[in-house]
Amino acid sequence: MNTPKRYLITAALPYANGLKHIGHLAGAYLPADIYVRYLKAQKRDVVFVCGSDEHGTAIPIQATKEGTTAQAIIDKYHPIIEQNFKDLGIQFDIYHRTSDPLHHETASAFFKDLESRGDLETKTTEQYFDEQANTFLADRYIKGTCPNCAHTEAYGDQCEKCGKSLSPEELINPVSTLSGNAPIKKETTHWYLPLNRHEDFLRKWLLEQHASDWRPAVIGQCKSWIEGGLQPRAVTRDLDWGVKVPVAGGDGKVLYVWFDAPIGYISATKQWALNNDKDWKPYWNDPETKLVHFIGKDNIVFHCIIFPVMLKLHGNILPENVPANEFMNLEGDKMSTSRGWSIEMDDYINKWIKKENGGESLADCLRFYVNSIAPESKDSEFTWKGFQDAVNGELVSIFANYVNRTWVLMHKLTKGKVPKIHTEFLDEDDRALLVSVTETKEKVTALLEQYKFREAQFEVVNLARLGNQYMQKKEPWILAKNLDTDPTAQAKIDNCMHGCLQLTANLAILINPFLPFTAKKMCHLMKVVDRMLEWENAGKFDLLKVGYSLRPPELLFRKIEDEEIAAELAELKANAEAKKNKMETTNTSSAAANTDQTNELGIAPLKPEIVFDDFGKIDLRVGTIVEAKKVEKTDKLLELLVDLGFEKRTILSGIAMHFNPEDIVGKQVTIVANLAPRKMRGIESKGMILMAEDAQGKLYFVSPSEAIASGSTIA
Ligand code: MF3
Ligand code: ZN
Repeated sequence: MNTPKRYLITAALPYANGLKHIGHLAGAYLPADIYVRYLKAQKRDVVFVCGSDEHGTAIPIQATKEGTTAQAIIDKYHPIIEQNFKDLGIQFDIYHRTSDPLHHETASAFFKDLESRGDLETKTTEQYFDEQANTFLADRYIKGTCPNCAHTEAYGDQCEKCGKSLSPEELINPVSTLSGNAPIKKETTHWYLPLNRHEDFLRKWLLEQHASDWRPAVIGQCKSWIEGGLQPRAVTRDLDWGVKVPVAGGDGKVLYVWFDAPIGYISATKQWALNNDKDWKPYWNDPETKLVHFIGKDNIVFHCIIFPVMLKLHGNILPENVPANEFMNLEGDKMSTSRGWSIEMDDYINKWIKKENGGESLADCLRFYVNSIAPESKDSEFTWKGFQDAVNGELVSIFANYVNRTWVLMHKLTKGKVPKIHTEFLDEDDRALLVSVTETKEKVTALLEQYKFREAQFEVVNLARLGNQYMQKKEPWILAKNLDTDPTAQAKIDNCMHGCLQLTANLAILINPFLPFTAKKMCHLMKVVDRMLEWENAGKFDLLKVGYSLRPPELLFRKIEDEEIAAELAELKANAEAKKNKMETTNTSSAAANTDQTNELGIAPLKPEIVFDDFGKIDLRVGTIVEAKKVEKTDKLLELLVDLGFEKRTILSGIAMHFNPEDIVGKQVTIVANLAPRKMRGIESKGMILMAEDAQGKLYFVSPSEAIASGSTIA
């Protein structure tokens, strides 16, 4: 294998629209960090770039949710995410952001370059437009049924259930998420990247050249894209948040987020070069650079098909590999922040790492478990029990136990110093131990070079296991009892302890890419400089000099208690339940839905103008509440029976925190009578009760000024 002249390693730029969970960590950041730490230990020339993806509709959508601006959202989440990565030992050389002017310039110039050389096409098409909101609908603002898996909540760009990339046109029964209406089609002009012109290139590059050295799942996805017929892809959007389209006719349009974001890798490299007085160009232009993109499987198309075509057209190098990971699930379900079914990195850091002295070891515990179940070839599953077992059963009982025993015994049996070797007493076992270290180093190196981080880590722990077995076989503590009778005993103890100690130093080197905090702590306890961790030192048996003394041993990891696991599980379930209730309340009570968008006076802003016909579609009626009761196991929902004159209906309303059921029977209320029925908690709700809400959040019924017949119309 030829050693590349330099490496550029990227990890997918996370959207700065919210906290990131440990599924993200498992997908891209942890494997990338392991790889980079290994390369750096090999003293290779490496730059590791990442940063916030701050464009696209994800950001304004979150802004609407939080009742603030897109800028405020990215300014809130960018620094938190950056710090979260640091706390977990993910050590980027730069964590940039796509809102930075340098990125806007870079992406703009990239687009202009392609455009000026005729590599883009323009096309006028009809696109979905929301008449009520008076705006073209970005893909994310359209929901509908997935043509692939029939999931009813698929977005216009992707189905989050089956992972398939979609275009809004493919959705069945599309609706605008802004108004809830079916969108209309309206003409607009956009720039397209004609992928169809590059089919030959992609076939050769992906399906021939990389058919066997890339992960089969990655090649598989690429293949089905290519076979599915490559189409021109729109690379601009009608939106006001993003990198402005820098050519004539681009007014009111921005670059599609998936066009600008990967260029973020280039702008990040430029910023890194500026900060470090380096030249960025060879990292993107010199074929002797090895470019590797670490991503999750939902990003494959963009990194393996679209961005490479852009890079080729722009005259840059192509990725040497894109080791995409599958997804990591959590306790039997898909991880999802919005459903409350996730472990945010931020939460783990605050609850585990920041809470105790030496909490960094718990960062390594998370890294260890997540990597031990890395979804490299299929989806995997995080469970708190699995976390506990991995930490207690492997890190504590095998790795830390071996290291600790060695250091404790050194203090007891060899006067706290590294003993010398007595060559005449070396035996098969001693030699075998040395061989194991060399073999492990070779295996781990080969596995890391092939992006098999899970197996690589397993091999390192296994070496500690071999160390334990070696020590168990030699039983130096027994030899120590025979010092008076056996003249060779001390020599044998010395040989054993010498080997064991050199092994602990080797373990520090080999574990370093995976558990950097631990490796550092081991160096500290062994009183060696961090430079010892350089990869070339692995396999050496003279890392700790004879006569050298070590610091008093400290435990590398603590056990994870049953109660801690139980608490995490309980909290996970409570979170998910709370999110579910919140969604139900938001959906049942129109008043509650607006609370996060109010202005300083506490008055909600006006919604976009509508025409009379829009209003005319809503059938409002006077109803009389005839029965009311709480829905079991929810705090917020009331189940009401409402008389509409011509029928009595069940309607669920999220008002249980505001009214006692017995107080509202007999009240006349305003009902949206033609709202499509919705099932919640197994109960079908047919319609919605209108509520007025004041600035304090108090709710009021909207009732006729005098009692009138149930079913009377309101218009
Ligand atoms: N923000 C995207 C996501 O979270 C990833 C962008 S990767 C980049 O899925 F290459 F576009 F930067
Ligand atoms: Zn689907």
